[in-house]
Amino acid sequence: MAHWKISACFVLAVGLMQGCYYDVESELYPNLACDSTNVGFAGRIKPLIENQCESCHSGTSPSGGLLLAGHEAISDAALTGSLLDRITLEEGNPLLMPPSGALGACDIEAITQWINDGAPAN
Ligand code: HEC
Repeated sequence: MAHWKISACFVLAVGLMQGCYYDVESELYPNLACDSTNVGFAGRIKPLIENQCESCHSGTSPSGGLLLAGHEAISDAALTGSLLDRITLEEGNPLLMPPSGALGACDIEAITQWINDGAPAN
């Protein structure tokens, strides 16, 4: 019983520390801070692309001629296009997407996982 309580306190303490040092923790222990299992298109990928990409890649003349609106267009770019290549370039590379700076490591991990799953409409 006592052991269980000590473990619970430890988990809580680590959790609180992660809250304060999120960036550092996520770099050191990407899998602790980032859950990239069972990545859903509707819940994770679509909102991410909407927030980070659609300001330029939507409408009648999307940047680079690349439309990233809706599952079909996004999965197309993911499976047959250069989407993953362009979001994993080094900071400072003029071809990096989004141009304002790289996505967070966890977002890139989620997109990678979703593409590895076959870019489903889940
Ligand atoms: C501020 C505007 C802007 C944002 C935001 C943006 N892009 Fe782009 N994107 C561009 C422009 C402009 C081009 C065309 C020039 C080039 O290839 O760099 C482009 C080109 C691309 C290309 C290459 C298209 C091709 O077929 O050659 C991909 C892939 C891409 N963007 C993906 C993304 C993704 C994924 C995001 C979100 C994570 C994103 N972009 C966010 C402006 C943007």
